[in-house]
Amino acid sequence: VRVLGIETSCDETAAAVVEDGRRVLSNVVYSQIARHQPYGGVVPEIASRAHLETLPGVLDEALRQAGVDWSGLDGLAVTYGPGLASSLLIGLTMARALALRLDKPCIGINHLEAHLYSIFLPSDRPSSPDLRPLTSDLRPLTSDLSPLLVLLVTGGHTALIRMEGVGRYRLLGQTRDDAAGEALDKGAKLLGLGYPGGPAMEKAAGGGDPAFIDFPRGLIRRADAPGAEDPYAFSFSGLKTALLYYLRDHPEAAGNGGLKDIAASYQEAVFDALADRAERALRREDVGALACVGGVARNQRLRSKLADLAARHRVPFHIAPFEYCTDNAAMVAALAGRLNWSRAPSAHDLDVQPGLALPSG
Ligand code: KG4
Ligand code: ZN
Repeated sequence: VRVLGIETSCDETAAAVVEDGRRVLSNVVYSQIARHQPYGGVVPEIASRAHLETLPGVLDEALRQAGVDWSGLDGLAVTYGPGLASSLLIGLTMARALALRLDKPCIGINHLEAHLYSIFLPSDRPSSPDLRPLTSDLRPLTSDLSPLLVLLVTGGHTALIRMEGVGRYRLLGQTRDDAAGEALDKGAKLLGLGYPGGPAMEKAAGGGDPAFIDFPRGLIRRADAPGAEDPYAFSFSGLKTALLYYLRDHPEAAGNGGLKDIAASYQEAVFDALADRAERALRREDVGALACVGGVARNQRLRSKLADLAARHRVPFHIAPFEYCTDNAAMVAALAGRLNWSRAPSAHDLDVQPGLALPSG
């Protein structure tokens, strides 16, 4: 099955052609970062205009790089949520129009679910592992995939998921407030590092001392049982406040080379919280491997923390290849290639769903 994937949920305009859920024939991402940078964050109005402007060219380029023409596609797959309504609408409308013109099927894809499939995409980097059940032909993930613990860390979501097969996900825990990427973005803004904050923070933290400041790790107490911890919940809003107070109380701290220590300590607090909840799940849930997906999974410090964790628990560690961590359409087409199209929702029957959640089952 040769699928054209389209992704416009936030600030990347992306198209990709993927065969059988894992052979990436092309992966084109136009990042709008430069357009949003002057505003210190994503401006929805600018994002949707930029999608409209660039998507036709991105689509042409994806087909050109894949070496296929429109007739060589078996179908289209497009993200319909979660994300920015006006941005999602550009991708969904374009996909529908193309599908009608080409007389090809077109299905709607959940962006969060698509992120999970980034670990099955092979990387240019030889060090990236692959999941063995999927290397050969198009075989749907079934119960022969030993349950996988996936840490999903993006700019909008932070969740621990038990993945047992296609469409079979159990949400173990998620953030009560800010997402991990959002915490990094907000912290970087406070430190004057610019947008997007995650990579800026990683760069600023280089050579810094992660133990310089003991920022809170955000343990949550369960509301219904005072004193009992909700083992897999995350909370990052207190961390951002702690940084705000620290900077207020130590106005000189960021100068004289102190910035790298503050940045290193701040991101360490985020990653410790992620690793801590993942470790609990590795202890309590019967899972055969650990995986990490989403934009924050690009971070080298987080990668090495999670790799150590997996090694300590003697389970394989599957990290999404670097180029498929942040938003892209290859993961959208990869998921589409694993689905039963007669049961997948047709894009023609869908509206955009900005608040769409990960399906469970
Ligand atoms: O998955 P993604 O591209 O978009 C969403 O679906 O949200 O994730 C974007 C997030 C942003 O918060 C960005 O700061 C973060 O991923 N990010 C990073 C790095 N690269 C991107 N965080 C830490 N280290 C990085 N190298
Ligand atoms: Zn994303």
